[in-house]
Amino acid sequence: MGTPVSTPKKQNDGQVPGQQNRQLAQTVKSESTKKERAMICAAIDFGTTYSGYAFSFAHSPLEIKANYWPDGSIKTPTVILLDPDGRFHSFGKEAMDKYSSLLHTKEHKQWFYFDRIKMVLYEKGTPLNLDVTIEDKEGKPMKAIDIFTMAIEYFVHQLVATVTDKNRLDGLNFTPSKDIHWMVTVPAIWNDKSKLFMRNAAVKAGIPDDMLTLALEPEAASLYSRNNISDARFVGFRYILLDAGGGTVDITVHELNEDNSLTELYPPTGGDFGGTDVDNRFLQLLNDIFGISLMQKFKSDCLEEFIEMMSEFEIAKRRFNGTGKLIMKFPASLIEMYEFESINTCEHALEAASLNESIEIKFGRIYINANVVKKMFQYSVNEISNAIRNTLNKVENIQKVVLAGGFSESQHLQLVLTETYGFKLLEVSSEPSGAVLKGAVLFGHTPGCIVARVCPRTYGVARMVKFRPEKPYSNPPDKKITIDGKDYCDGIFDIHIQKGTKVAVTERSDIKEHVYFRPSLFVSNIIVEVFASDSLDPKYVDEPDCEKIGEAVIEMDPMVKMRSKIMVKLVFGGTELELVVRDEVRGETIKTFFRLT
Ligand SMILES: Nc1ncnc2c1ncn2[C@@H]1O[C@H](COP(=O)(O)OP(=O)(O)OP(=O)(O)O)[C@@H](O)[C@H]1O
Ligand SMILES: [Mg+2]
Repeated sequence: MGTPVSTPKKQNDGQVPGQQNRQLAQTVKSESTKKERAMICAAIDFGTTYSGYAFSFAHSPLEIKANYWPDGSIKTPTVILLDPDGRFHSFGKEAMDKYSSLLHTKEHKQWFYFDRIKMVLYEKGTPLNLDVTIEDKEGKPMKAIDIFTMAIEYFVHQLVATVTDKNRLDGLNFTPSKDIHWMVTVPAIWNDKSKLFMRNAAVKAGIPDDMLTLALEPEAASLYSRNNISDARFVGFRYILLDAGGGTVDITVHELNEDNSLTELYPPTGGDFGGTDVDNRFLQLLNDIFGISLMQKFKSDCLEEFIEMMSEFEIAKRRFNGTGKLIMKFPASLIEMYEFESINTCEHALEAASLNESIEIKFGRIYINANVVKKMFQYSVNEISNAIRNTLNKVENIQKVVLAGGFSESQHLQLVLTETYGFKLLEVSSEPSGAVLKGAVLFGHTPGCIVARVCPRTYGVARMVKFRPEKPYSNPPDKKITIDGKDYCDGIFDIHIQKGTKVAVTERSDIKEHVYFRPSLFVSNIIVEVFASDSLDPKYVDEPDCEKIGEAVIEMDPMVKMRSKIMVKLVFGGTELELVVRDEVRGETIKTFFRLT
């Protein structure tokens, strides 16, 4: 026996579903087949610090064509430059060079320079919606969704141009909107809303909703790396894939199956301790030496030199192997500014910060002793090491820890982890910086190669039950509502999938349907509100660790006067949560992703 859906707080009962919902209901029906039929699978790895794109044809999926940028890297810096009218100008190194010339001629003030924007989607505490803004390098705010959209649009154009160029199509009849299955990568530890945000931006950028799959970054890296892991050729082989990026570190645990497919053994874990934390510690060190206000003045008055200094640090950081000094060019303008403002020498500043023994600044260079550099790495290296330890403690019989992501190329990180876990356990992926991107292309061709995943949260639908005053504990008076003269207890968390449940990706028919009724005959639709919770057994949807993921408005046939019902299925197992609703009267199945509002 089903129960009515809960009463949504934001919408009127009689509201007609949005056009968007109806469109989705029509278009998404044959989604998987359309994706499967695509001629090309193209992936965009939208990274915190670096981004890139690659693709391959369905007839030869392993022949991945990645774009290598002019400096020879597989990814280019995630930098977006907009002109004074707020229109997209350029991306990556091109954007950096243009901005640098604008800085030089002091024309940059009206332009918009964005970098490291992805972390806004992970920061805890900020409620994510389409109005969230991000600030450019000079603090000018813009809507995050617009910046993400422009960046994805850039990659879509690049990809389509690359595919159609160079006679790759050999006379094939090619239509980008229907022949490309698009993959956009997202960290596996992102919550549902952040994933929705990315889907929204991708769709706004012109990728058809039904041709888009979000690829989870460590999964993609795992797919790329799985065939190259030494000793990985036996069924039941278990390994950790750790994707150490610039912003996040993302961990997944996989078991190799007989047919070379993978089973996820533990929900994704990780956090915001990627490579940019080391950069932040470097800036913190400069704050300690020169003072925060001087560093702020340096950044605002000499932005060109500031950006150059960070590029120098990036190069020097990559060379660091745990011994010797980190040596890099150091901006003369910063030293001059300090000496002018404080009427003191740079040596004095180092002495005052008790760093004169370990840091020298001379001849336009800074020399930093290894022990100080190690401290800059310490937080992220320790967090990565702890994350590996925790996972080893949670899942038995792990035979390898495979490292991917740009940060995993750090020799210092590799050495510390090898010292802790030994050569036998640790291995670096064959192409750490390209593993996510190339793996995402592979995943697009064979999404079924991850056969099962573990549900990271508890998911359910808000519903009402008959109010029972004799049970005040489970029927608190503040949850009582009256509809058509009947009393209901509102806002019950009707659990569909419990956290930790292992879900087979393909066996959708095994997922139990929940039946819901229209709350009143006087409403023309049923609004299904979907919630997620970090607890195992939530009772009400307004508990502190519950979050509304989205809602779907299901239009009911006004001609059917009987108590019409719908069957709702929450499908977890893919990379995003899906909602499948069956309307028995009309014999229709509606499948949808949620929309972020
Ligand atoms: N040899 C190296 N030593 C130290 N750090 C490195 C090295 N090579 C790359 N990095 C760091 O790795 C990070 C880039 O890695 P990657 O491209 O995987 O990240 P991303 O995809 O941009 O970020 P995310 O996956 O978190 O969104 C940067 O912080 C960069 O400084
Ligand atoms: Mg990455």
